[in-house]
Amino acid sequence: MKILDIKDTSQVMIPADPLERVIGQDEAVRLAKIAAHQRRHLLLVGVPGTGKSMIAQALAAHLPLPDQQLYVVSNPEYPERPFIQKKTREEVEDENKHSMVKKEKLISPVDAPVNVAETLGYRCSKCGTYSPKNLTVCPNCNNYKGQKGSPKVATIDLQNNMGNFMQGLEDMLKATLTTIGGDKNKIQTTRVVNGKEEVVVYEGAGAKIRVLDQKALEERRDKEKASPKKVLISLKRNTFVMATGASETELLGDVRHDPYGGHKGLGTPPYERVVPGAIHEAHEGVLFIDELPHLGHLQRFILTAMQEKVFPISGRNPQSAGASVKVDSVPCDLVFVGACNIQDLHHIISPLRSRITGSGYEVLVETTMPDNEKNRARFIQFIAQEVRMDGRIPHVNKSGINVLLKEARKKALQHDGKKKSITLRLREMGGMIRAAGDIAIYEEAKTIGKKHVDAAIIRSRSAEEQIKEKFGHYQGGVMKEMSESARMQYSPYNYWNDNSDDLLGYE
Ligand SMILES: Nc1ncnc2c1ncn2[C@@H]1O[C@H](COP(=O)(O)OP(=O)(O)O)[C@@H](O)[C@H]1O
Ligand SMILES: [Mg+2]
Repeated sequence: MKILDIKDTSQVMIPADPLERVIGQDEAVRLAKIAAHQRRHLLLVGVPGTGKSMIAQALAAHLPLPDQQLYVVSNPEYPERPFIQKKTREEVEDENKHSMVKKEKLISPVDAPVNVAETLGYRCSKCGTYSPKNLTVCPNCNNYKGQKGSPKVATIDLQNNMGNFMQGLEDMLKATLTTIGGDKNKIQTTRVVNGKEEVVVYEGAGAKIRVLDQKALEERRDKEKASPKKVLISLKRNTFVMATGASETELLGDVRHDPYGGHKGLGTPPYERVVPGAIHEAHEGVLFIDELPHLGHLQRFILTAMQEKVFPISGRNPQSAGASVKVDSVPCDLVFVGACNIQDLHHIISPLRSRITGSGYEVLVETTMPDNEKNRARFIQFIAQEVRMDGRIPHVNKSGINVLLKEARKKALQHDGKKKSITLRLREMGGMIRAAGDIAIYEEAKTIGKKHVDAAIIRSRSAEEQIKEKFGHYQGGVMKEMSESARMQYSPYNYWNDNSDDLLGYE
């Protein structure tokens, strides 16, 4: 689309693919696509605000959905060495379907026995109207649903409420319903099947009631008895995991402390205290670490995780009862994406870099793009994206677009010495667009135009730039704004000089 043709950015199409929304970084985008397809690693190097995080996130969106769900399973022989169990998506879904059909039945409250529906709070005991369980007042007759003289309801209430005791006592003798363990969401009753009496449990389950007959109850009990486990890494996870500035435990997982040391019957068993790290959560997905060198010595662990594709989880605090617990071989088959600015590149440990180049790519992100028809169109796409993403500002009209383009050319020259180019330091440009949008909103304008962008450009100057403009130069401004006495003493060593006697000992 030519700039001449458009009225404002509302006419610009925004691509559905998040990688196509990254502008000016064609090489990095191409490699990100390959990395997603072939499960390779990626190191993005370059100045802030040029799209590195955006690329990492978009790469994750290109990965297939995770296929494995991971469980940590209790080890009865040696509780401090829980196992890992893997299930494929198919197995998990199959199991869910199975367990629903076979074990439990969901029925509508209308199909449940009347006293069950009332006790569980689905039916008004006064007027008989059915309504959602979470409404305590009947929408039809405005009475409290459970509170009144139906004898069976009084029986149930008796267990939790000593009021109405005498009346309740009499009814209780006749009652067939009992709430289980004071849990008002669950009732037990009996029914006769083929001449034999059996237990049935009804449980509130959202808009439905779950029915568990004797068989279902037995199955449930068996299942709970068979080696207890918990889901460690769910199928329904995000494939993008960011671990910038993560601590050791956040990155590698941990086993929580238990004051009872996991003592049987007292404490929490070890397997329940196992917590995955970011590397495990990124299993089958992307682990993104911005400012990679800041990770320091932890970089080594990432290298091991990338090499082995498994990493144990153990208690990382030697003082904690978690320290004696270890789960071996927890999968962490991840696509690693690191970001780093140019001057910190040498702080990345070299084996990690050679690992990345060995099975992935390093790419220097661009800071400018040539000012041509195609790239101007992409820049306008960027403006439209920023407006959409913000959601609170109006679109930018043609005059506004032109000022933004001019500013983008100016920045390319200023920061990167590039003529006839458009800057790709787009976070800054995004800030300018939002500032212009706020001004337009304040003025109740329908679109962002030239005057709003002009005002935003002035507004977006740093404090230092503002001082320079007002006082000619920075130092002059500092001096002028100071009181006479403060100026007399103006020196970075001011306090030290004044109190030099007190400070002698510290030198
Ligand atoms: N190449 C780009 N294409 C489109 N938008 C960008 C680009 N670079 C930066 N932006 C905008 O700036 C924001 C910050 O960019 P980000 O990806 O966090 O930069 P980096 O990680 O390189 O510091 C993005 O969310 C996006 O709105
Ligand atoms: Mg970033």
